[in-house]
Amino acid sequence: MLKHFILTQDFSKEELLGIIELAKLLKTADKEGACPRLLQGASLGMLFEEPSTRTRISFEVAMTKLGGHALYLKPGEIHLGVRESLADTSRVISRMVDVIEARTLKHETVVGLAKDATVPIINGLTDYNHPTQVLCDVMTMMEHCPKGKKLEDLHVSFVGDATNVCSSLMWICTHLGMHFTHVSPTAYQVKEEWQAIARENCKTSGGTLTVTDDPAAGVKDADFIYTDLWWWVGQEDEIPDRRAAFMPKFQVNKELLAKAPPHAKVMHCLPASRNVEATDEVLDGPQSIIFDQAENRLHMEKGILVWFVYPRLKKPSAELVAHHKGKIEDFLSTRG
Ligand code: CP
Repeated sequence: MLKHFILTQDFSKEELLGIIELAKLLKTADKEGACPRLLQGASLGMLFEEPSTRTRISFEVAMTKLGGHALYLKPGEIHLGVRESLADTSRVISRMVDVIEARTLKHETVVGLAKDATVPIINGLTDYNHPTQVLCDVMTMMEHCPKGKKLEDLHVSFVGDATNVCSSLMWICTHLGMHFTHVSPTAYQVKEEWQAIARENCKTSGGTLTVTDDPAAGVKDADFIYTDLWWWVGQEDEIPDRRAAFMPKFQVNKELLAKAPPHAKVMHCLPASRNVEATDEVLDGPQSIIFDQAENRLHMEKGILVWFVYPRLKKPSAELVAHHKGKIEDFLSTRG
């Protein structure tokens, strides 16, 4: 059955941990210069309605390392619901590539692409979801897991605005039985209907969800303190209000870090507004793992691509390839 990677909620805990294990195997192989070319001859179409550094580069390099090829289709470059229906675009691209990664302004666009696609669609970020980022983040947390703790013991405190990364991280952590806290001024806390999904997760996973406007209480048990931008493109008019609401109480700085356990690590999905949501001192300090996190995007994209694409690829025998090559060469030779 064709499966897309649009929401982590669509996958079981075992499946998500399976993708992480696969990414770790590929990372180890890659570190030894021995990344297997599991997607040889395969193509990835990368559709972007917004700019990207990490997502674009990690997917393209992952595909190259796996022996495949990626096409970067930059914002505005193809008809995406303009001059051609989304359904037709999806059907056409599906006929030419083996997998599609899409970063779209609206979540509904990725869902619309998936409706008519005949190859897997991978969500590369929408207005409220960033599943490839947060699966990578859990992998990074596992790599930096404090001694004696397991995944289900981990406390993740997200300090800042209820961004797409915040909601996605809340869902994956509570789905995997982890303990998630959103620390934010009341007006910028993750919305109730999204909290409800996380609370539902907790009922079966054993995870917990806490939402608070008290930074000290919110980070006191944190193994990981995560932050993200306080505003994004399109929110320029809100900058004065947002800055006043978050600064200085919700900035990840050394005063806040001192209220967390000494082993707590600092994470940020990047790009960062340095000295806004987090200080240079913290982002470049000894507790920061932001660049391990960024590098893991590459290894996670390899894991996701292999998980979704490798089982679908035809693996012809050398004899079959030789048979077709011979027929084509015979044909060409008759034409002088
Ligand atoms: N974290 C992240 O998705 O970065 P890009 O916007 O650069 O892809």
